[in-house]
Amino acid sequence: MKQPNAVQLKEVGPRDGLQNEKAIITTENKIELINRLSDTGLDYIEVSSFVHPKWIPQLADAVDVLKGIDRKPGITYAALVPNLKGLERALDADIDEVSVFMSASEGHNKENINKTIAETFPVLREVVQAARAAGKTVRGYISTVVACPYDGYTEPSQVKYVADHLFDMGVQEISLGDTIGVAVPTQVERLLDELLKHYKPEHLAMHFHDTHGTAISNIVASLPYGITRFDSAIGGLGGCPYAKGASGNVATEDVLYLFDTMGIETGVDMQKLLHASQFMEQQMKRPLTSKQMAVFRGEQL
Ligand code: HMG
Ligand code: MG
Repeated sequence: MKQPNAVQLKEVGPRDGLQNEKAIITTENKIELINRLSDTGLDYIEVSSFVHPKWIPQLADAVDVLKGIDRKPGITYAALVPNLKGLERALDADIDEVSVFMSASEGHNKENINKTIAETFPVLREVVQAARAAGKTVRGYISTVVACPYDGYTEPSQVKYVADHLFDMGVQEISLGDTIGVAVPTQVERLLDELLKHYKPEHLAMHFHDTHGTAISNIVASLPYGITRFDSAIGGLGGCPYAKGASGNVATEDVLYLFDTMGIETGVDMQKLLHASQFMEQQMKRPLTSKQMAVFRGEQL
C-alpha cells in the first residue's frame, strides 16, 4: 500500500472534544490541557471556538483561554469562527489560524449555524477575506460529508459543490468531517475518488468521528490518496451538540499508535499524550474511551 513517510496530527480536543461536554471545565484546566498538548510534539492545536456562547456555553471563555496559554513557537493555535462577530473576538485573542465551518447537507447546516447553505457562503466569504487581510491562514470544515443526521446520505457531488465555494473564497485547506461517525472505507474512497479529480491531497484533511469504530480504518483508507493531515481529539472526546447521535472524535493516541506502528513519522510523543489524556480523565472524573488509555490503565494487558 502506498503510504507517506510523515503525517500531521491536528489536535481538536480542546474544541471539538469539549464542546459537547455538559459539565463546564474551568478555564484554568483548559489552559493546562492545551499547555500539556503543546508539550507533546503536536504542531497544530484547535484551542476553542468563537461561536455564540449561548449555542456552545462550554467554550464561552475562548478569549481567556487563548490569552492564558503558553504559546510555543512552531505550533499553530486555531479556533472556529462562524462570522465577523466571532472573527473580531478571535483577532482580539490573536488566533494563528481561523477555521470557518459549514455542512454539505442543508439539515445539519441549518441546525448547526441557523442558515441555509446558500445563506452561509456570503457570511463565510466576509470572514475569510477579513482573516486573510489580517494575515491569518484559513481552514474550512465541511461537515456531514458522508451522512447527515437529518437528511441521510450525502452525495460526493454535494461536498464538491461546497468545497468549490470555500476554495474560491480563499480557504487554504478543507477538513472533511464525518460528523456522526458512520462512514466506512468504501464511502471514504468514493468521496476521495471524486474530490481528488479536482483538488490536491495536500489541501485536504480528514476529520473522523468514531461512533461505529470505523475511524481508524477510514484513516488507513485515506492514505493511498496522498492525504497526510488527520484531525483527532485527545482521549476520543468530542461530538457536535447539533448533530443527533454524534459521538467522540477518533482518539489522538489511537491514531498515533497506528502511525507509530506503521513507521509513519508524526513528531508526537505517546507517553506525553497519554499523560495529557490522563489529566482530562481526572478533570472529567470518568475513563476516556480511547483504546490506548485502556491499555495505559492496565485494562487490556
Ligand atoms: P444566530 O442566532 O443566527 O446569529 O446564530 P445572528 O447572526 O442572527 O446573531 C444573533 C445574536 O448573536 C446577535 O446579538 C449577535 O451579535 C450575536 P444581538 O444583536 O441579538 O444582541 N452573535 C454572536 N455573539 C458572539 N459571538 C459570535 C456571535 N454571532 C452572533 N460569533 C451562529 C448563528 C452561527 C452564531 C450560531 O448558530 C452558532 O454560534 N452556532 C455554532 C454551533 C457550533 O458551534 N457547533 C459546533 C461546531 S461545528 C462541529 O462541531 C463540526 C466539526 O467538528 C466538523 C465535523 O465534525 O463535521 C467542525
Ligand atoms: Mg467534529
